[in-house]
Amino acid sequence: MQRILITSAIPYINGVKHLGNLVGSMLPADAYARFMRLRGHEVMFICATDEHGTPAELAAAAAGEPVAEFCARMYHVQKGLYDGFRLSFDHFGRSSSERNHKLTQHFAGALADAGLIYEVEQEQMWSEADGRFLPDRYIEGTCPNCGATNARGDQCETCTKQLDPTDLIDPRSVISGSTDVHPRKTKHLFMKQSALADDIRAWIDTKTDWPVLATSIARKWLDDGDGLQDRGITRDLDWGVPVKRGDEDWPGMKGKVFYVWFDAPIEYIAATAEWADANGKTEADWRRWWRKDEGAQDVRYLQFLAKDNIPFHTITFPATIMGSGEPWKMVDYLKGFNWLTYQGGKFSTSSGRGVFMDQALDILPPDYWRWWLLSNAPESADSDFTWEAFQGGVNKDLADVLGNFASRVTKFCRSKFGEVIPDGGTPGEAEAALTVEVQKRLDAYANAMEAVEMRKATAELRALWVAGNEYLQHAAPWSVFKTDPEQAAMQVRTALNLAALYANVSRPFIPDSCDTLATALNTATNAPWPDSAEEALTALPPGHTFTVPENLFRKIEDAEREGWEAQFAGA
Ligand code: MF3
Ligand code: ZN
Repeated sequence: MQRILITSAIPYINGVKHLGNLVGSMLPADAYARFMRLRGHEVMFICATDEHGTPAELAAAAAGEPVAEFCARMYHVQKGLYDGFRLSFDHFGRSSSERNHKLTQHFAGALADAGLIYEVEQEQMWSEADGRFLPDRYIEGTCPNCGATNARGDQCETCTKQLDPTDLIDPRSVISGSTDVHPRKTKHLFMKQSALADDIRAWIDTKTDWPVLATSIARKWLDDGDGLQDRGITRDLDWGVPVKRGDEDWPGMKGKVFYVWFDAPIEYIAATAEWADANGKTEADWRRWWRKDEGAQDVRYLQFLAKDNIPFHTITFPATIMGSGEPWKMVDYLKGFNWLTYQGGKFSTSSGRGVFMDQALDILPPDYWRWWLLSNAPESADSDFTWEAFQGGVNKDLADVLGNFASRVTKFCRSKFGEVIPDGGTPGEAEAALTVEVQKRLDAYANAMEAVEMRKATAELRALWVAGNEYLQHAAPWSVFKTDPEQAAMQVRTALNLAALYANVSRPFIPDSCDTLATALNTATNAPWPDSAEEALTALPPGHTFTVPENLFRKIEDAEREGWEAQFAGA
């Protein structure tokens, strides 16, 4: 038994996420966490809302709410949706928590003690009308690179160039619209990442099993141009973690907060402390997941995230941890995802294009989405959601293969033997061949999950379902029954055991349907991974009662598909 720590990139608080966000980190992390629990490992699966920074403040302003209230409300909205998708976080925290404030200030203090923080006096844009600085997205103007008139202070969305607020032509305040904005001197803290570049590079060099996507992005940051740059880690904002050096005030930093990307990854650790607080656990209980001097040396730590987050997880967060000089656990395996597109283009919040998580749950149960998204996850390249592909995947894999198998065998048994596993007959060659095939598929499925290859894992799982259908088709107990009811009883017994096995091992992907099936079959909804196919196929003895499950999956009709396609096309 291993201890496995799993984190998913923490979603911004500002709004409801779409299916691309879901499959880009949280959902595959959940399937992996569920699989590892099924295998009997001790799992800590952590996520949270990312509540600081200008996106949170601007969304609150747009909603006409104080930012703290907005975040508290949106936290519950998001948490409700993640529950709806059955994401099995051990804890879903908040980056605005007291724990994260303390831990972020602690890391800043440790970095300062190590000589890795320095102050820079720089010019930031000040708005007279608003009486405040306008960092990042608080300011917009004309892009000096492409001339787009809606470039933001941190980036031009049109040409993707990274910008500094002072680069903008004709800048204006996003808050008041005022153009009376001009540079003004202010002091900020910088983290001396340049001093850690060699350590980070050496650490990255040990990650030979990581996807190339991750290590190549990291190396680009380390080695391109003038090498790894130092980073500003503070902002002139009210909302966020106040700049302190541990528990001490930081001279000259009054009224400033840490930059959102400094405190957000620290929330992985803080959320585990929040887990302890919420569950009556001790300090030692959470620290054994994170401190290598307190038990975490035995932990395997995996991070799930979308590719735009890779630099923060391979460079800046590791720099924070290494620079602190303290023995915090660092990531062992990093799984980065590409983008999910929607019908050949982008998901868009502003124009309502694509399916968002609340809408998805309004129209179909979570398992339909979970299955399709994970079996089409943008793993080695971008992938595209189309309604046709979605309809095809759900109807074929879930309804025609798994659903059909479960319904056929339970209904046939009920009609000939009653709702009880029938006795009689002896397994023969066909059953021996089935056992070999099932074992092979189970192993291949498990290996793909161990390797965090979601698409491959779903393909193996589907093949395991197909094997059952083929067995049933060949065995044909409905015709055998006419001449040899004992033999038909044995075949039905075998197939019902197979259905119970499916209810067990499919749980990482379609947990609700597995619960429905296991409950109908009168088996545990938390059974461990089977030791062997042979044992699993004879686990339910003759005389074990069951009920026929409700239809596990329904098919998506063409008319529905067309309706949804129109509904989610965007303005
Ligand atoms: N909120 C960020 C995003 O959605 C992810 C933050 S991940 C963490 O892109 F490492 F900062 F926690
Ligand atoms: Zn531009």
